[in-house]
Amino acid sequence: MDIQVDFSGRGVDYTEEEIAVAVEAMRVANPLTQGRYQSAFEEKFRSFNGAGHAFAVSNGTCALEIAAQLCRLKDGDEVVVPSHTFTSSAYPFLKRGGKPVWADIDPRTRVVTAETLKRALTSRTKVIVAVHLYGYVADMPAIMALARERRILVVEDACQAIGADIDGVRAGNFADFGVFSFHSHKNLTTLGEGGMLTVKDDTLADLVPLLRHNGHCPFAFEREDYWIPAMGNVDLPELEGERLWPANFCLGEVECALGARQLDRVDSINAQKRGRALAFIDALREYPELVFHRVETSRHNYHLLAARMEGSVARRDDFIRRMMKEHGIKCVVQYYPLNRYPFYQKLGFGRADCPAADDFFDHMISFPFQHNMTEDEYRRMLAATLRTLDEQRRRRLL
Ligand SMILES: Cc1ncc(COP(=O)(O)O)c(C=O)c1O
Repeated sequence: MDIQVDFSGRGVDYTEEEIAVAVEAMRVANPLTQGRYQSAFEEKFRSFNGAGHAFAVSNGTCALEIAAQLCRLKDGDEVVVPSHTFTSSAYPFLKRGGKPVWADIDPRTRVVTAETLKRALTSRTKVIVAVHLYGYVADMPAIMALARERRILVVEDACQAIGADIDGVRAGNFADFGVFSFHSHKNLTTLGEGGMLTVKDDTLADLVPLLRHNGHCPFAFEREDYWIPAMGNVDLPELEGERLWPANFCLGEVECALGARQLDRVDSINAQKRGRALAFIDALREYPELVFHRVETSRHNYHLLAARMEGSVARRDDFIRRMMKEHGIKCVVQYYPLNRYPFYQKLGFGRADCPAADDFFDHMISFPFQHNMTEDEYRRMLAATLRTLDEQRRRRLL
């Protein structure tokens, strides 16, 4: 059957106002990068998120690259990362000498906890990367208490969790660094690519503009003639005598203009998705073979809607196959444990003691859940799910 409900690569549709803001920026922004729209977006993000410092960057991976560099890893320093996450939660740290130690997830919430992280800590642990996968904020107060006790840096990968909070503290605002993605699939997207880095420490924050933009900075003196000695200074970012390498990770002005405007809508996008997720989960209450993570509060923004199918892997595969073949609903399986990828295996990091992550991956189903899904598509997906589960019961598939 043709696809009726796709696992879309695009998460949201823009409103006419948002389009007008982007068009206006296209007309008037000068320069088209590193201008007033960037400053306005960062300022608005700081007040939205509660962060002291926020820097717009080209995407979430660039935010992780900068955070990884500011962690100043030495060869052999260990970085504890969940195995169940997107690849760029991990590899920017490996590029700088870090050795990943894979942390397991909690089977109920599908994210790391202080307990699962604790099991992965050693005397060499320098950094923890806490990932709010699916849009659910990991238990940051407990994770920060654990990290502070042992003087470990924490990076919050909030790429999927914009706007989600614990008791009013937004994701990305607990740890030393917070990273966000505005990729095409996210609840806020700046034309397909974009990201934000939040930084707690003032000294580290001062370095971010240089790291983000080729080491560019003002001259330390007043120039009598604006062209002498040159347009702008380039310096080597340094921290306590250690050299850091810059790159060009800037986000364009049109994207910043759009992002700032979309921030006004994030809470309502999240609330709409949460409402739909809860209604979907509740409608399947009589089917305990599908186990969802049900969260009524804004701690979950339901960027994604994932479930575990009890029973055999064959039953999960049968479900996904039937949903597609008989109903045209494209469910997927996500977050291949990183240690199973050739990338990490070739580097010698192919072993993980993460039974819950492995088990969840082998039984998980990720439903299409983009914000721009129509009411009709949503109803079809629910009806198809009910019919497929009934069919599996009828065939006594376990
Ligand atoms: C958990 C997680 N970390 C990191 C990233 C990387 O973000 P980006 O695609 O913007 O580079 C993503 C998004 O795709 C993500 O979902």
